[in-house]
Amino acid sequence: MLAYRHQFHAGNFADVMKHALLARLLVGLSRKDAPYCYVDTHAGLGRYDLSHPWSQKNAEHASGVAQVWQRSDAPAELSAWLDIVRAMNPNGRLEHYPGSPEIAQRLRRAADRMVLSELNPTDHAALKANMAGVRGVSVILQDGYKTLSSHLPPAERRGLVLLDSSFDRAGEFTRLVQAVRLAHERFATGVMAVWYPLMDPSAMRRFERSLHDSGVRRILLLELSVHPEDWRESLRGCGLIVINPPYGFDREARGLLAWLATALAPDAGSSRVQWLVSE
Ligand SMILES: C[S@@+](CC[C@H](N)C(=O)[O-])C[C@H]1O[C@@H](n2cnc3c(N)ncnc32)[C@H](O)[C@@H]1O
Repeated sequence: MLAYRHQFHAGNFADVMKHALLARLLVGLSRKDAPYCYVDTHAGLGRYDLSHPWSQKNAEHASGVAQVWQRSDAPAELSAWLDIVRAMNPNGRLEHYPGSPEIAQRLRRAADRMVLSELNPTDHAALKANMAGVRGVSVILQDGYKTLSSHLPPAERRGLVLLDSSFDRAGEFTRLVQAVRLAHERFATGVMAVWYPLMDPSAMRRFERSLHDSGVRRILLLELSVHPEDWRESLRGCGLIVINPPYGFDREARGLLAWLATALAPDAGSSRVQWLVSE
């Protein structure tokens, strides 16, 4: 338990997918003036130094963010995220990578709040240091699944929950569906984004079926694959379930993911955007 450290993976293709979509969701929430609350259940360090030995070990960012951050032909839907990556690396060398808390911090407005929970004490301490002096942020050392009960619904009654599990325990897909149900019971109008790895097709069909049968409506499924379906050597792809996405997000995501699939994996890349349950 808690052997997972995101420093090894920061900026890989899965981060690119998740963070580009997260930035679009937050931009969508900012279209209305009323403040929102961003809840990140598995927050990680906040931001990452890519020269760290753990990031250098497998250099996962080389096949992720490094492939796209300087592309001049990226679609407009990617710019909210790309602008942040570029602002953090002003001298043209890719040295820093924004985690989900940093992205939310840079996109939120003065009245928007953030709740960040992280269970690993070392990573929690690093996150707290990275957010030091920032107003409107709670950084808590807590199981992210408990954060759903302790912090939902937010006082603002508007918000986005990101559930970005490290999938280091058996039974995580079941836990995710329970978490979706719980979050929906407590905060039915909230936007929720849940990251997951693409496993074998039968496991994915079970996951989709249990989400479909959960009783929760407006579930959009987004996936990006960088390897074929029978690939077993490493993560072949990943997905994001988004509940209650802002208006127009499905259309934006379609273009964004199609472009990323080609940019990150010209030979094997593919993407999927599908309403699992509509209105
Ligand atoms: C995939 S990483 C998060 C990355 C981050 N959301 C981002 O996009 O930058 C998952 C994080 O969850 C932490 N973690 C693992 N189990 C947890 C739990 N039950 N509750 C909260 N955090 C947990 C891990 O220590 C790790 O930092």
